[in-house]
Amino acid sequence: MAAHILKEGRFVGALEYRPHLAVNQHGHLTMGGVDLVELAERYGTPLYVYDEQRIRQRYREFRRAFSSYSPVEVYYACKANSALAILRVLYEEGAGADIVSEGELFLALKAGFEAEKIIFTGNCKTDRELEAAVEAGVTVNLDSLDELERLDAIAGELGREVRVCFRVNPEVSPETHPHLATGLRESKFGLHEKLVVEAYRRAAECRNLRVTGIHMHIGSQITSTSPFLEAAGRLFDIAGRLKRELGIELEFADLGGGVGIRYTAEQSFITPEQLASEMLPLIERKLEEHGLGRMKLIFEPGRYIVGDAGVLLTKVHTVKETPYKVFAGCDAGFNLLLRPAMYGAHHEVVVASRASAEPETVVTFAGNLCESGDILARDRHVPAVRRGDVVAVLDAGAYGFAMSSQYNSRPRCAEVLVKEGRAELIRQAESLEDLLAKQRLPEWFE
Ligand code: LLP
Repeated sequence: MAAHILKEGRFVGALEYRPHLAVNQHGHLTMGGVDLVELAERYGTPLYVYDEQRIRQRYREFRRAFSSYSPVEVYYACKANSALAILRVLYEEGAGADIVSEGELFLALKAGFEAEKIIFTGNCKTDRELEAAVEAGVTVNLDSLDELERLDAIAGELGREVRVCFRVNPEVSPETHPHLATGLRESKFGLHEKLVVEAYRRAAECRNLRVTGIHMHIGSQITSTSPFLEAAGRLFDIAGRLKRELGIELEFADLGGGVGIRYTAEQSFITPEQLASEMLPLIERKLEEHGLGRMKLIFEPGRYIVGDAGVLLTKVHTVKETPYKVFAGCDAGFNLLLRPAMYGAHHEVVVASRASAEPETVVTFAGNLCESGDILARDRHVPAVRRGDVVAVLDAGAYGFAMSSQYNSRPRCAEVLVKEGRAELIRQAESLEDLLAKQRLPEWFE
């Protein structure tokens, strides 16, 4: 069945739980009230399109789910999508920012985020990045003992006091793609419990650092609550040890991101409400058990906020029937959406220009890169696809454009934000000249 069939007045399948998507009287897919086929005409393809209201709605849903606890903050994980306009939307909503590079720091500050609500995470920060973090006055999430020493020295040189926390490796295994698990015993991230107490002891002795919190992030696209609960339990047990053994009272616990979204109707998923209803009582118990004060809770969702708010529009330029498969050749490949090639990720596709047609055939949507692995969507049951059709790859708002490249020397595409029937360009497409930007030939070529 097509992902978008209308039954008894409501959509089932792909559009069922994506309320910002609909089909208009022309049989075109719409998002935020905007005809996506018209957008593809106006701005050209490939094109990323995001729905501002959907982003706000998802942020609010997440925030509301945890609102029975106070204080609590949501720090948007900028790596999911760091378009300035999107950062700005989340800043307006009152979010803080989780950043992982000097570039994200630069963008977050440009978008308006205040340093007090920015946390800088990363397993290998350079001295330059630490300096930038100190200069900006953000909280630094330390990932190793040598980083602690380097940061203390840099803060001393700059005459600044820096708020720090440590990222803890809680050694849990979320059931997700191996590339998306970050809190496994063998992961490169965080400090294992054995080292954590020593790390906090040393941090407390550093003259230029103020120990303020503790952090974890166990992975991404997690679709059950148990790994979060297990890891949070460990985190608060460690906070308890820090209080008992070192007399350190932390101000906040940052529980990271990782709540998965529904890429398909069939997959399992959790809602923030569900997570909150299981996690908050556990946290209350742990705070009480260890005599910890009312620590602030921070969450760092990325995908949950922007994932389903974005689509990648791509045009079919060729339809090829082989004895084995029908391929729709699309003008976007893993240069623009890496997730299928990198993680075998499934993204629903809707033939946006024929969105009310019955499915009648099976098509594989191929990207335009010279790589066999460059397949956007395999064996999808869709209406007959013709040259010129516009295809929407759904749920591409998180880790889509953010992971794009110029591979095969293809300039990156444009991005558009829609809001209640309006659409505006938020990033121009790169040009061929942009392929040369920053390049030069050595002098020995006359
Ligand atoms: N906090 C930290 C420290 C993180 O490393 C991440 C994601 C997040 C928060 C947000 O996680 P989320 O809520 O979005 O799951 N490229 C992969 C995902 C990599 C996630 C990296 N870290 C993908 O396309 O699935």
